[in-house]
Amino acid sequence: MNTQTKDDRLIRFEALLDSDHPAETLRTIADAWPGQVVFSTSFSAEDQVITHLIATGGANIGLFTLDTGRLFPETYSTWTATLERYGLPITAYYPDAAALQDFVAAKGPNAFYESLENRKACCHIRKVEPLQRALQGRQVWITGIRAEHSPNRTQMRQAEWDDTHGVFKFHPLLHWTSQQVRQFITEHQVPSNPLHDRGFVRIGCAPCTRAIQPGEDFRAGRWWWEDASKKECGLHVHHAR
Ligand code: ADX
Ligand code: SF4
Repeated sequence: MNTQTKDDRLIRFEALLDSDHPAETLRTIADAWPGQVVFSTSFSAEDQVITHLIATGGANIGLFTLDTGRLFPETYSTWTATLERYGLPITAYYPDAAALQDFVAAKGPNAFYESLENRKACCHIRKVEPLQRALQGRQVWITGIRAEHSPNRTQMRQAEWDDTHGVFKFHPLLHWTSQQVRQFITEHQVPSNPLHDRGFVRIGCAPCTRAIQPGEDFRAGRWWWEDASKKECGLHVHHAR
């Protein structure tokens, strides 16, 4: 019988982390859970840095993306450029066709602008449920979350236990600044979504993402018609340790 508590397992997991050497940490984690570690990429700048670290550091980590069907054309170009540059397979997960068909038939294609309920339902069908499939049977989920993204991310830890999906989460770039991310991309000539040069920070679905002005809060670029406190799509649900 496994007598370890969740806290014990998290302590064991945290012992593997070395924030100064993310590429090595990714390899260590991949070696500790062979075939059980996955990284979710939205092809945004921080995700591209992690892809570079995985590819060049030789960590055995599976890459996946959630193709909502509403991504920017530039995101698909970045996806293609990433495949060409690194030659790593990237598994795409899609919304359940019947659920999406029913939702669009009932509410129309742009129902997310009409109510929070519709927006959350759209995110559930296009991202949250496909994510559940992507994480099925996995032990560790790597993400590109950074503390600067939103106030609730400033309180996060690099490693956490995700009760919803039953996996450890690890955010290797949690404490990186935008400047560090930009510098890394330039130095290593990492393929980057051209939307970043036009004021887009976190790049999600086209109808729900816009550019922000210099100095404006990062959250202003997402679901700008909603109350700031409600802006989570349900991919990342935080629990106190
Ligand atoms: S959000 O949807 O919760 O706002 P955000 O854009 O900030 O997500 O991205 C945070 C992390 O979530 C990314 O670094 C990536 O790991 C994951 N992520 C977000 N969108 C996707 C996607 N479409 N496919 C795969 N991973 C994603
Ligand atoms: Fe739907 Fe917008 Fe959520 Fe994308 S971000 S899944 S288009 S509501």
